[in-house]
Amino acid sequence: MADDTKFLLLFLLLNSSTLCFSTEQDIQCLKSVQQSVTDPNGVLKSSWNFENNTVAFICRFTGVECWHPDEDRVLSLRLGNLGLEGPFPRGLQYCTSMMNLDLSNNNFEGPIPANISREVPYLTSLDLSYNSFSGSIPQNISNMTYLNVLSLQHNQFIGEIPRKFNLLTRLSEFNVAENLLSGPIPSLLAVRFSASNFAGNQGLCGSPLDDCPPSKRRWRPVRIRLHKLNNQSSIGAAVGFVVGFVAAFYFPHCFVCSERLRAYVVRI
Ligand SMILES: *[C@@H]1O[C@H](CO)[C@@H](O)[C@H](O)[C@H]1NC(C)=O
Ligand SMILES: *[C@@H]1O[C@H](CO)[C@@H](O)[C@H](O)[C@H]1NC(C)=O
Ligand SMILES: *[C@@H]1O[C@H](CO)[C@@H](O)[C@H](O)[C@H]1NC(C)=O
Ligand SMILES: *[C@@H]1O[C@H](CO)[C@@H](O)[C@H](O)[C@H]1NC(C)=O
Repeated sequence: MADDTKFLLLFLLLNSSTLCFSTEQDIQCLKSVQQSVTDPNGVLKSSWNFENNTVAFICRFTGVECWHPDEDRVLSLRLGNLGLEGPFPRGLQYCTSMMNLDLSNNNFEGPIPANISREVPYLTSLDLSYNSFSGSIPQNISNMTYLNVLSLQHNQFIGEIPRKFNLLTRLSEFNVAENLLSGPIPSLLAVRFSASNFAGNQGLCGSPLDDCPPSKRRWRPVRIRLHKLNNQSSIGAAVGFVVGFVAAFYFPHCFVCSERLRAYVVRI
C-alpha cells in the first residue's frame, strides 16, 4: 500500500471516530439518499428502516457496508441492480468516510454533480455504468485524486473527456465505452487503457482509437497546395511533351540510335 493511501486511511479513521456527530451524519446521508432516489421495487423502502435506531443498525441495510460492524460509518454504498431511478443521489457529502460508490445497472438519469469532488472527495471507486446519466463528464472528477476505478460506460455522456483527467494518476480501471463522447483521449488514459474502454463513442479519437481527423483549418492550405501542385505538374508535363516531341522530330538522331526506329520516326 502506498504511503499516502495509508495516510488517507488513518485520516479517515481519525476523522470519523474522534467526531461524535459523524454517526448522525452517516444516518443523515442514507436518509437523504433514500429520499432523493426513486425506488419502484421498494428495495430501499423495505430494507432501510430508520425507526429501529440501534447501534450500527445502518450497517445491515441493503447495499451498505460499514468500516466496522459496531459503528454506523459507511465505507461503501453498493446499490447496483436495484431498479433505482431519478437523479444522482443527494446528501452523499454526509457519508464522510465513504470510499466506494456503486450505482451501476440502474435507471439513474441527469448529470453528475459539477461539485462531485466536494461531495465524495475520498472515493477510490466510482461505478456509474449502465445507467442513463447525461450531460458532460465534470472536470471536477479530476480533483478526486484517490480514484482507482472510474466506470462510466453505457450512459449518455456528451462532450470531451476532460483533459485534466491526466491528473488521475492512480487509475487502474477506466471505462467510458458506449456513450456519446467526442474529441481526443487524454494522454494518460491513452497509454494505460485499451481501445475497448473507449469503444462505442462516435466522436472519440486518437490513441488507442483511430487518429483524430485534421481540423478544417489545417486542411485548407494543404488542399490548395496540392491543387496548385497538380496544375503546375500537368502544365509542366504538357510543355515537356510538346518540347520533347518537337525536339525528337527535328533532331531524331539525338534520341534514337537504331536505324529501324529512325525510319519509323521520319515516316511520322
Ligand atoms: C431492531 O433491530 C434489532 C436488530 O436487528 C432486532 O433484533 C429488533 O427486533 C428490532 N426491533 C424492532 C422493533 O424492529
Ligand atoms: C471542483 O472541485 C474543487 C475542489 O474539490 C472545488 O473547490 C470546486 O468548487 C469544484 N467546482 C465546482 C464547479 O463545484
Ligand atoms: C453541490 O451542489 C449542490 C447543488 O448545486 C448543492 O446542493 C450541494 O450542497 C453542493 N455540495 C457541496 C458539498 O458543496
Ligand atoms: C482541483 O483541481 C484543479 C486542477 O484540475 C486544481 O487546480 C485545484 O487546485 C484543485 N482543487 C483542490 C481543492 O484540490
